Amino acid sequence: MMRILTVTDIRELIQVVGMENFFKRIIAALEEDFGRWNEFILSPRHGTYYPQGVIELMHCADQQLYAFKYVNGYPGNPLKGKLNVVAIGLLSDADNGYPLMLSEMTLLTAFRTAAAGVLAAKYLAREDAKSLAIIGAGAQAEFQVLAFAGFFQLEEVRFFDTDPQAMVKFSRNLAGQEFRLIPCGSIVEAVRYADIVITATAAKKRQSLFEFEDISPGTYIHAMGGDCPGKTELSAEFLKQVKLVVEYKPQSLVEGEVQQCAADLIYAELWELVCKNKPGRQNSQEITLFDSVGFALEDYSILRVVYELAKEYQLGTESYLIPELNDPKNLFGLLNL
Ligand SMILES: NC(=O)c1ccc[n+]([C@@H]2O[C@H](COP(=O)([O-])OP(=O)(O)OC[C@H]3O[C@@H](n4cnc5c(N)ncnc54)[C@H](O)[C@@H]3O)[C@@H](O)[C@H]2O)c1
Repeated sequence: MMRILTVTDIRELIQVVGMENFFKRIIAALEEDFGRWNEFILSPRHGTYYPQGVIELMHCADQQLYAFKYVNGYPGNPLKGKLNVVAIGLLSDADNGYPLMLSEMTLLTAFRTAAAGVLAAKYLAREDAKSLAIIGAGAQAEFQVLAFAGFFQLEEVRFFDTDPQAMVKFSRNLAGQEFRLIPCGSIVEAVRYADIVITATAAKKRQSLFEFEDISPGTYIHAMGGDCPGKTELSAEFLKQVKLVVEYKPQSLVEGEVQQCAADLIYAELWELVCKNKPGRQNSQEITLFDSVGFALEDYSILRVVYELAKEYQLGTESYLIPELNDPKNLFGLLNL
């Protein structure tokens, strides 16, 4: 039988496990999986591009498990009352190819994207980072902030969105946290003195949210909003001046901020930092940037964590989606005609 996890099941899972603990489990799984990079069958995702957005299929496998996710990216959707990014994912047993679990992945994508940003920050941010700025207060924003708050001793979170209602929603959702919330009147006001900057805007165009002079030495940037050809948040000129880390070059060079520059400008792929093949941050002044676009290995990691937790806490529904037969050659007999 195959387990199905709905949005309600994932919400229950977070309530049972606790958000901070859940983030810790995902970050640990990501670190473990990026640390065994060579054991995976990897490929860039398949994108179907429309003028209004993209629909992507992302798959990743090792010798035990196969995972894939269906995800969209439609920046205009919120204006029509719909999410920009929605996703579902599947985890299968690589031994026999049978699906084990079908899960909602809209929430899980937000969790794993934030967790990946923190994993990269572990190698690229200053340990004493206290101030975080986020540009774009949409669906991903609170997940990003809470993942970082679980890892760094954040004293303040500065934020800016062109949509005042998104700013209000963000403040409301994060009221009561230990850090101070500072709404800002402009991007520059938000990023100027921040130690960590997250760019989480959605616009299917080339943007330049801020310039190199606008940020402080020693900043770590999680550039996660630009994730599609023709959709970027920082200029090519900006990228030349920072230490650039990506998930997977063949995909990032098409979809990431780095689609604007030559491959040799990229310092490393994240797994190289995790495996200690290359050092991460080397001094307190460097400006480092994790150009995340979302990679299938991250979906694999969170799906395997959720599968284990769902079994442990008996969450989800066992559904008869795959035929069960005494004689595997008698599929027709299943119809009882
Ligand atoms: N890297 C990844 O793995 C990953 C994962 C999920 C989503 N994303 C991307 O992250 C982005 C954000 O996703 P979301 O689900 O939060 O989208 P969303 O539409 O819910 O939120 C985006 C927010 O950015 C704001 N915004 C747009 N342009 C702005 C600007 N110039 N300055 C300030 N704010 C601006 C919008 O008003 C909106 O509130 C999307 O582009 C999405 O494709 C990336």
